[in-house]
Amino acid sequence: MSLAQQRILIIGGSNGMGLAAAQRLGCAGAEVFIAGRSQAKLDAALGQIEGRATGVVADFTDAASLAAAAGRIGRLDHLVLAASSNAAWGPFAHTSADALRQAMEGKLIGYWQSLQAMLPILRRDGSVVMLSGAASRTAMPGTAGLAAVNGGITQMAQTLAKELAPLRVNVVSPGLVDTPAYDGLPAEAKQGMFAGAAKSLPAGRTGTSEDIAAAIEFLLDNGFTTGALLDVDGGARMSL
Ligand SMILES: NC(=O)c1ccc[n+]([C@@H]2O[C@H](COP(=O)([O-])OP(=O)(O)OC[C@H]3O[C@@H](n4cnc5c(N)ncnc54)[C@H](OP(=O)(O)O)[C@@H]3O)[C@@H](O)[C@H]2O)c1
Repeated sequence: MSLAQQRILIIGGSNGMGLAAAQRLGCAGAEVFIAGRSQAKLDAALGQIEGRATGVVADFTDAASLAAAAGRIGRLDHLVLAASSNAAWGPFAHTSADALRQAMEGKLIGYWQSLQAMLPILRRDGSVVMLSGAASRTAMPGTAGLAAVNGGITQMAQTLAKELAPLRVNVVSPGLVDTPAYDGLPAEAKQGMFAGAAKSLPAGRTGTSEDIAAAIEFLLDNGFTTGALLDVDGGARMSL
């Protein structure tokens, strides 16, 4: 199978891993649609993608916005779910149920309603790739909220791989990757966090958005892979 000419929507395609996937798929000859909330971010991202690419403003926490995006796109071969907002970081005792609710809305439920909105326009034997996260693959104190959200995505994807077959549904579980998601951290704190993680990982480094984009491309392209969970985490699940 080839991804050339395939119509692929990447929700969360204006930054980080989603943008890296759009760039890689654009180079592979796919027709790429990137979605996010900010028109300015989409415009900036489009300038960095080779080949045919279109920006679609959509908020995946809003079903009406997703339905409008599906109407504009019309037809898809593949869907990549790479967005997230409102992660629930922090020790269990200090992470409120409201913070978890917002994190669920900002990722798990966003993925849920994104797939529901796109299903009518998605090729029956196309595929979906969802990004989860390494916090759900190992027991790291202070990440119970991340584990709950991302673990839900992994389990839901396996069930959907059977229920929605022949549509293929796969998950990439990224480890720590330097993306604009960490732009809010003070530079020193960010550097310390990444250096510490690199030292503890079997891979000896943290991830890049391109590492994750390569895994997304593999799962989109491999017609014999479904219900799979691909850890692209430098070995985090064995070391943390
Ligand atoms: N970075 C890491 O270390 C790491 C580790 C494990 C897992 N992950 C997961 O990997 C995925 C990608 O992470 P990343 O670091 O590449 O993220 P990022 O750089 O923060 O990019 C997030 C993207 O999602 C879009 N987005 C956010 N909220 C949205 C919403 N409500 N509706 C539509 N689009 C929305 C953003 O655009 P707008 O702001 O314009 O909407 C942006 O394009 C996420 O699911 C994240 O949880 C990341």
